[in-house]
Amino acid sequence: MSDLVTTVQARAGTEPVRLGLILGSGLGHLAHAVQGVAIPYADLPGFPHVGVSGHNPNLHIGTLEGVRVAVCGAREHYYENGNPAAMRPALELLQALGADHLIATNAAGSLRPDIRPGDLMLLNDHINFSGLNPLIGEKTDARFVPMTTAHDPDLRAALRAAAEAEGLALPEGVYAWYSGPSFETPAEIRAIKILGGDAVGMSTVPEGILARFLGLKVAAISTITNIAAGMSDEQISHEHTKAMAPLGAVKLERILRAYLRGSAARP
Ligand code: HPA
Repeated sequence: MSDLVTTVQARAGTEPVRLGLILGSGLGHLAHAVQGVAIPYADLPGFPHVGVSGHNPNLHIGTLEGVRVAVCGAREHYYENGNPAAMRPALELLQALGADHLIATNAAGSLRPDIRPGDLMLLNDHINFSGLNPLIGEKTDARFVPMTTAHDPDLRAALRAAAEAEGLALPEGVYAWYSGPSFETPAEIRAIKILGGDAVGMSTVPEGILARFLGLKVAAISTITNIAAGMSDEQISHEHTKAMAPLGAVKLERILRAYLRGSAARP
């Protein structure tokens, strides 16, 4: 890890970052607003070889709204190579660079009639519908990570305040992680609904577990790209996800910028 930190700091400078961001499908645009450097994942040992279209496989380090951030423009999903811990080296790097919290974003399908395509949802909890865990094989007792407040109440309050300041709705809900890459069946969506899921997607939960393991506070926001399978006549496809993500991305960017301005004002 120290080699990686040295490599990155040689290009990005040694000033610590305050937080890390991971951007989801079709949401990579914000990364380009960071004033600093963009380091291709290919130059960073351990970083994923991201093969999903609509992603920006660069680590952007620099300033956004006066706050020093490290932004992962793309993630590796479990469904790419079957590794739920694929983002561990990236998260370890964010922490080593000084981040004390992570904000993850993703594209998701909604199970709630009041949360529509183009809307955002702040995760207040999640369901690991895949049963996989990135900490399986971890040897120390640190693996028994409490997840009771995994979606940090203070961070969520700050993000809700940022949304309110922007006049944007940011309802909270429960995100269910489905492994993918196939989408869910209508019966699976009905099951997720019964279990208490409000949105469904193929990411974020393993990163949240890893980030909590590493001691980072976590918050995550979904941009809703579609109504979940079987709940409407709408077609569900990756093309559709990529086409719809920018709708929510504009709002997401406003909220994250407002959050960062507030965070810059805090000591
Ligand atoms: N299911 C899973 N992942 C998704 C969806 C969905 O409906 N929409 C965007 N990502």
